[in-house]
Amino acid sequence: MNIAVVGTGYVGLVTGVCLAETGNQVICVDIDENKVKSLSQGIPTIYESGLERILQGNLFHKRISFTSDIIYAVENSEIIFLALPTPSSADGSADLSFLQSAVEKMAPYINDYKVIVNKSTVPVGTAEMVKNMLLLHTHQEVDVVSNPEFLREGLAISDFMKPDRIVIGTSSERAAEIMKELYAPFVRQGNSIYFMDEKSAELTKYAANAFLATKITFMNEIAQLCERTGANIDSVRLGIGSDERIGKRFLFAGIGYGGSCFPKDVKALNYFAKGVGYNFQILEAVHQVNENQKLALLPKIISHFKGQLSGKRLAFWGLSFKPNTDDIREAPSLAMIEALLQLGVSIAVFDPEAIANAQEKLASSVMYFDSPYDVLKDADALVIATEWTIFRTPDFMKMSELLKENTIFDGRNLYDIEKMKSLAFNYYSIGR
Ligand SMILES: NC(=O)c1ccc[n+]([C@@H]2O[C@H](COP(=O)([O-])OP(=O)(O)OC[C@H]3O[C@@H](n4cnc5c(N)ncnc54)[C@H](O)[C@@H]3O)[C@@H](O)[C@H]2O)c1
Repeated sequence: MNIAVVGTGYVGLVTGVCLAETGNQVICVDIDENKVKSLSQGIPTIYESGLERILQGNLFHKRISFTSDIIYAVENSEIIFLALPTPSSADGSADLSFLQSAVEKMAPYINDYKVIVNKSTVPVGTAEMVKNMLLLHTHQEVDVVSNPEFLREGLAISDFMKPDRIVIGTSSERAAEIMKELYAPFVRQGNSIYFMDEKSAELTKYAANAFLATKITFMNEIAQLCERTGANIDSVRLGIGSDERIGKRFLFAGIGYGGSCFPKDVKALNYFAKGVGYNFQILEAVHQVNENQKLALLPKIISHFKGQLSGKRLAFWGLSFKPNTDDIREAPSLAMIEALLQLGVSIAVFDPEAIANAQEKLASSVMYFDSPYDVLKDADALVIATEWTIFRTPDFMKMSELLKENTIFDGRNLYDIEKMKSLAFNYYSIGR
């Protein structure tokens, strides 16, 4: 099939390369000329395991191309994916301006029947709005399908190639058949495609993210109780996770969720609910608790240094909002760094993949290192903000030699408390 993907970020690029990998002809469009140039040369613009190989392979076989010419892409495609940003507006609502601007641009060039597939996370009713916008400019038949994306950054390629499920929201049989054929290679192992109406598909995405954010936040609140009572969150997690109704995943306490999705989607669903006359109380609390949780290590740091933070130097392990991605959007590390800088602490950082993105955001306010051990030199203590696997079994002796004092503030509960005691570390973690 001939496919266009408009917006070549995390979702668009992964969608584009995976659809090319199954034999489709894919044109990826982006307004960012640098992105187009880099991707055309086979250089990935994001860090995702397996992406480089699949990108270069499909470029070599000429199944994928990159352009900033949306008109060319639209005129030459039967299916047009929209993978555009829907960030938070100041009031918490989803900002649809990127989506609207792309739709306005392409509308006059719909030269035949097309299926427009929206992969962006958008409020209920957006598919209908997009269709109405298109019909103002074209007399061709168009179907607008809602096909929310559930990939996880860090596992994006494998999630797209082997999805748990695919959700297709459409009331058009013709579009449903096309989508079924397009996704057939991805559901060969019996994983399901759920067909539903557009609105239900749009709400499914928000419901999934808001539920997961709530699950994480609930455990972080239980961790707060653990700290006040002497209970251990690890034991509580095992105790409840063995109940199948609860499940073992997403129960790890820490310094909160971040990323480009959970924070904005929780806010957007909350805002949207109010607009339709419903006060979604849990979401208000989830957002607020998570904002507080990002700073959960701060009182421990202040108390450890007896309030004398000015002139201290802290080393950070991890900046990305979670491991295996270079994405730092809304990362808890950033909230902590900002708070510590205000207290006069100097900050040295190491992250396996996110340094380039961090440099754009933090500029010269922190010092950057390319080794997890070099960053420790001259630091008073270490803060762990992201649970990259390379931090799980480090050389504690070497850390001890490099750090000024044996102190670790662990926002991701990586180490065994007894072991840290035996190694003579002052070890602070969450809920233990
Ligand atoms: N990142 C994720 O893990 C993830 C997962 C599921 C769903 N989503 C949703 O998918 C959507 C896209 O997210 P993302 O993380 O891929 O965003 P992103 O910011 O990484 O990428 C968006 C891309 O769109 C481009 N763009 C903006 N306006 C354009 C225009 N008019 N024409 C062409 N290109 C344009 C930008 O330059 C950018 O490259 C969002 O709604 C997000 O909530 C994201």
